[in-house]
Amino acid sequence: MSTKRQLAQQLGVVGGFDDPTVELEQYRTPPDLAAHLVHVADLQGDIDGRTVLDLGAGTGMLALGAALRGPERAIGIDIDRGALQTARRNERRVGTTTDIGWIHADATRAPLCIDDAVVLMNPPFGAQDGNAHADRAFLKTASEVASVSYSIHNSDSQAFVDAFAGDNGGEVTRAFRAELDLDRQFEFHSENRRVVDAEVFRIEWDR
Ligand SMILES: C[S@@+](CC[C@H](N)C(=O)[O-])C[C@H]1O[C@@H](n2cnc3c(N)ncnc32)[C@H](O)[C@@H]1O
Repeated sequence: MSTKRQLAQQLGVVGGFDDPTVELEQYRTPPDLAAHLVHVADLQGDIDGRTVLDLGAGTGMLALGAALRGPERAIGIDIDRGALQTARRNERRVGTTTDIGWIHADATRAPLCIDDAVVLMNPPFGAQDGNAHADRAFLKTASEVASVSYSIHNSDSQAFVDAFAGDNGGEVTRAFRAELDLDRQFEFHSENRRVVDAEVFRIEWDR
């Protein structure tokens, strides 16, 4: 198994969105955080031989990170066709031999007949106007298709995620804080970099 640092280096070649959309909260999950999340999942036995689903895959960062750790297959779903083109380009850059499927679909309407996937996701937080609670719909999909999920949320989400899991046949088994160290990409961003506090949750879903 590669070390977490090696994984982060391999993911360093994953390029960002060509033409990011504010409403879809399109920013690349930082390679360090993606590597950390995948490494934790792998140590928990949640990657090897499993079907890994990246909901809101964007550039493909999380699906590609998982693909480098030997799942049976990885699948990335995004509502934006352009993002999936970026993900395919990134797949060639990363050079993984794992079978990866890229699906153009609304991840909140679960287009899959599967119930024991491992979901890795950095969903929209719902921070933009008209997009409130976007991460709730993504968690709902995870509850329907996954036996285990790992999801990145904005800070102070613990009570919401605990309650959602409890109401939908899940249990939070692990949580840790993280930082999203993001490049400036939208004109309204006043700084070249910004650090956003985030939280990551592992949820086991009843099957
Ligand atoms: C924070 S970005 C994801 C970052 C991704 N992990 C990466 O590193 O590129 C959120 C992603 O969710 C996608 N998205 C937003 N709403 C969606 C929906 N309803 N169904 C599928 N994808 C959606 C966006 O297009 C965007 O790629």
